[in-house]
Amino acid sequence: MIEVKSLHKRYGSIDAVNGISFQVNRGEILGFLGPNGAGKSTTMKMITGFVRPSSGTILVDGHNVQEHPVTIKEKIGYLPENGPVYGEMTVQEFLNFIAEIRGFRDPMEKVEKIDRVCDLCRLNSVRHQSIETLSKGFKQRVGFAQAVLHDPPVLIMDEPTDGLDPNQKKEVRKIIKAMAQDKAIILSTHILEEVGALCSRVIIISKGALIADESPESLLERNRKFNALRIQVDGVEIEAVRSALRDLPEVAAVILNDNRLEIFPKNKQAIEALNLKTFPENNWFITQFEKPPVGLDEVIWELTA
Ligand SMILES: Nc1ncnc2c1ncn2[C@@H]1O[C@H](COP(=O)(O)OP(=O)(O)OP(=O)(O)O)[C@@H](O)[C@H]1O
Ligand SMILES: [Mg+2]
Repeated sequence: MIEVKSLHKRYGSIDAVNGISFQVNRGEILGFLGPNGAGKSTTMKMITGFVRPSSGTILVDGHNVQEHPVTIKEKIGYLPENGPVYGEMTVQEFLNFIAEIRGFRDPMEKVEKIDRVCDLCRLNSVRHQSIETLSKGFKQRVGFAQAVLHDPPVLIMDEPTDGLDPNQKKEVRKIIKAMAQDKAIILSTHILEEVGALCSRVIIISKGALIADESPESLLERNRKFNALRIQVDGVEIEAVRSALRDLPEVAAVILNDNRLEIFPKNKQAIEALNLKTFPENNWFITQFEKPPVGLDEVIWELTA
């Protein structure tokens, strides 16, 4: 549905986007991750046709974005970084305006489209309030509503849950997930729990370049502590335990950390069986046995440092 090839954007002496290629299919939710200034928003602006690439091509549903800007805009819903402008309009007026831009002329059809997104984005209570007087979260919902008004097959959302309260974040994620079945979705986020909750694939961008394109699960496996174990043993010399564990064929390293041992398996294979195999015969008394939590944050930090 979206095909990006060797995309490049230069601003003066800065390569904001430096030769990125990737694809997104229908049914996929692609998460765009990367530090501030990595080039996420610039890439999204190029896909939606708001910024011209310095070089490279973008195809949306087979159409070249630069050659068919009007066709492309019909196929794409875009939630930009800083939400909707036109602050003096009410929500109703703004959505009506968007519906007209989108080419819905039939009054009944317009009403039906606007009602649908107001229900979807829970905007009914503020429909007649001017956008500039709305709270940040409600402004974000208006931005979301205008992006999906024409039910586009491609959705590009730049930090869609930024500034929302925890309940609303969940709500928006639910809506995005429900829409994903028949759409190709790209969203950028700095909220890593969002990636696990929403994305079927993740792209990490750093300094304009693509440094990872894989599933959230396989990204998680890159965590140094993936499948590691942490134990505390009492009543024996800890160095003796450490040495015995290190000799096991499935163990790559054992690190003493704060009076506890962290056991790192070879090839990040699960080593649960270790417990049963080794400890009873040695009469070690294990007072603590746990898997240290693994998250994407360390992985991303390491990849983008
Ligand atoms: N219009 C512009 N003119 C000059 N430089 C720009 C312009 N837009 C973006 N840049 C630069 O391009 C780089 C990438 O910016 P971009 O907004 O794409 O980053 P981002 O990954 O979206 O970051 P964030 O997480 O902060 O939103 C930055 O160095 C930024 O300063
Ligand atoms: Mg950005």
